[in-house]
Amino acid sequence: MKGTVLYEVKEEVAILTVDNPPVNPLSDGVRTGLYESLVKAEEDDSVKGVVLTGNGRAFIAGADISEFGGNVEGIPLNEVFNKLEFCKKPVVAAINGVALGGGLETALCCNYRIAAETAFVGLPEVNLGLLPGGGGTQRLPRLIGPGEALKMMLSGSHVPAIKALKMGIVDKTSKDVVAESIDFIKEMASNNDNHPRVRDKNEKMLEARGDKNILLEAQAMAAKARKGQFAPGQIIKCVEAAINIDNFDEGIKKEGEYFMECLFHPQREAMIHIFFGERAASKISDVPKDTKIKDIKKAGIIGSGTMGGGIAMCFANAGIPVHIIDQDEENLKRGVSVIEKNYDFMVNKGRLTAEQKDGVFGLVTSSLDYKDVSDCDIVIEAVYENLELKHEIFKSLDEHVKEGAILASNTSGLDIDSIASVTKRPEMVVGTHFFSPANIMRLLEVVRGEATSDETLATIMAIGKKLKKAAVVSLNAPGFIGNRMLFGYTAQANMLLLEGALPHQIDQALESFGLNMGPFRMMDLVGLDLGWRARKLSGKESPLHAKIGDELCEQDRYGQKNGAGYYNYSEGSRAPNPAPENEETYERISAENGFTRREISDEEIVDRCILALINEGADILSEGVSQRAADIDVVYINGYGFPIWRGGPMHHANAMGLDVVIEKLEKYKEITGSDVYKPSEMLVKLAKNGEKLGEAPEKDNRKEKLGFEMSSVANNF
Ligand code: 3HC
Repeated sequence: MKGTVLYEVKEEVAILTVDNPPVNPLSDGVRTGLYESLVKAEEDDSVKGVVLTGNGRAFIAGADISEFGGNVEGIPLNEVFNKLEFCKKPVVAAINGVALGGGLETALCCNYRIAAETAFVGLPEVNLGLLPGGGGTQRLPRLIGPGEALKMMLSGSHVPAIKALKMGIVDKTSKDVVAESIDFIKEMASNNDNHPRVRDKNEKMLEARGDKNILLEAQAMAAKARKGQFAPGQIIKCVEAAINIDNFDEGIKKEGEYFMECLFHPQREAMIHIFFGERAASKISDVPKDTKIKDIKKAGIIGSGTMGGGIAMCFANAGIPVHIIDQDEENLKRGVSVIEKNYDFMVNKGRLTAEQKDGVFGLVTSSLDYKDVSDCDIVIEAVYENLELKHEIFKSLDEHVKEGAILASNTSGLDIDSIASVTKRPEMVVGTHFFSPANIMRLLEVVRGEATSDETLATIMAIGKKLKKAAVVSLNAPGFIGNRMLFGYTAQANMLLLEGALPHQIDQALESFGLNMGPFRMMDLVGLDLGWRARKLSGKESPLHAKIGDELCEQDRYGQKNGAGYYNYSEGSRAPNPAPENEETYERISAENGFTRREISDEEIVDRCILALINEGADILSEGVSQRAADIDVVYINGYGFPIWRGGPMHHANAMGLDVVIEKLEKYKEITGSDVYKPSEMLVKLAKNGEKLGEAPEKDNRKEKLGFEMSSVANNF
């Protein structure tokens, strides 16, 4: 059994300490331990009360997520909670650290809650496709009101102890939570026989009865922030039951039914796949666990544009001083003022206090001189994509920055080995591909060069975690992971346009599938002119899929930046409006290229675009560019707006069944005649063996990596 509960008696108080490192989830051993310890405390006449706490940095991080979907052993959670809630002695939850999900639900079954000032609480089950199934949907609304409880459960947000105190989730905060709980329980046990239970607090439920707005607001919130997800609706139904059913146990029964529906829903498996996938992504199979990690006390950024500024904010937000260098004083001033404006915006929105802003913004310094980054432990170059320019910068950095410091390039497609080759420390050179806006987007592709050392890589993964990024390693190969897949996907969207579908139909079909933004809205946002200019410069004929986009650029339709692209945009608005004037162009280019435009179903649109992603992803895996299929999913969800509830393209393929994937690929190969749909060898092999996409093959069994023409991928959108 996993985990245990330590039992000791101090000053006539039984102290139960959950011990299941590192974050004390309620695994089978913990549930059994809790139950048995409560019985022991009840039977010990010398014990006046119970204090429940956690070992290490967490109180309890929730149910054991790895148990979901498998055979669960040990005492069921609700039986443990029942024992806790009806314990014959008063119980205080001494919340020493994080209390999430089942962890907060445990605390809600106790009579009193005292939290460490540094602790935080929350019911984040929704992020796993679940609802708080340990009574959270019934108890939290009773404590803080259904409106606030719904906000917490639908957002999955973490609430710091001080705020939790104001909201009424905890009764007290403390610096020494166990000692204070012991004193508290001694006092309460001697003064009082009647200890409060959350289940008995009905006032807030009665107040809410008949107030339709609470549920309507929750529905609006779920529709906006959790489009396509199953669990939010279930959470709302649970709270509706809490409000309208007098009998608490009946409400718990409803919660149990709705929880089981979530548990067996495919979205739960997809979202838990991403939870573990994000954590697995930081582990690199051939980098030993005990690899030394450099201490990053100060960071430098070269370039004060959008990317440089965003990356600087990431460091400052993590409490790391950051120095920005630009070669142009005007640019630098503008860049730093944009950073300040971003922080002011957060203050206006109430996300930061003015004091906090001064603190983080105070960590950002800037100058024009490379010497000022000489003492940095890492310097990230974030200038525009030009290999010669990057070579020059890295030569200068190598000269100026102290020995042992990491030099990183924020490139979306250039060759890291080539950049590393101009320095005397290639082992300390790495790619850090942040996504724009870097202070908001979670994805960080870490590009591992031929020479990048284990220490450099391990340090970057650790810093990625500190910056709250989902960091994923990619080998140095064209387009890395994300953009290489995006290339095939947008190319297919463009082919569908050439064959007869219209941009809004293609976008709508893919947005209904769950993508945040369809490909044509995305291309308009990025700018159609980037690829067009690069293709013009190369002097080569445009590939078929780029013909329409190039023609639109010839007509000065560059996308959102000048108000016209595949869509039209009103001034100052990002909302796409139809552009019927483009249809003549679509028809003409289709005809010129030998296509007879046809009706294309939404099913074909989704299949062709998503299969292009899957097939390329399988190649990326078989080349070892990505370590594992889940890494690709983490990239797609955090950087490209793929719906988390589908678990990413690779999980989606596994869920569909690889034999079905191959069948569909072959069908579209037949229809289009395109090699894009020639099933990847890896897919064929796995399907034959009844296996799923998982780990990349061992080094010797890998497909040869694509040759280098890095920029070609990036320039082809
Ligand atoms: N169950 C099982 N394992 C868990 C876990 C959980 N609830 N929470 C964390 N872990 C594991 C992680 O997988 C990781 O394992 P690894 O070292 O092998 O990769 C390890 O614990 C450490 O986790 P993190 O790397 O995430 O550590 P951090 O310090 O960065 O974060 C945390 C700690 C904030 C607690 C974060 O782990 C977290 O958010 N955990 C999930 C919390 C959650 O969603 N709880 C609800 C669970 S569902 C539930 O309770 C249902 C109930 O209502 C019935």
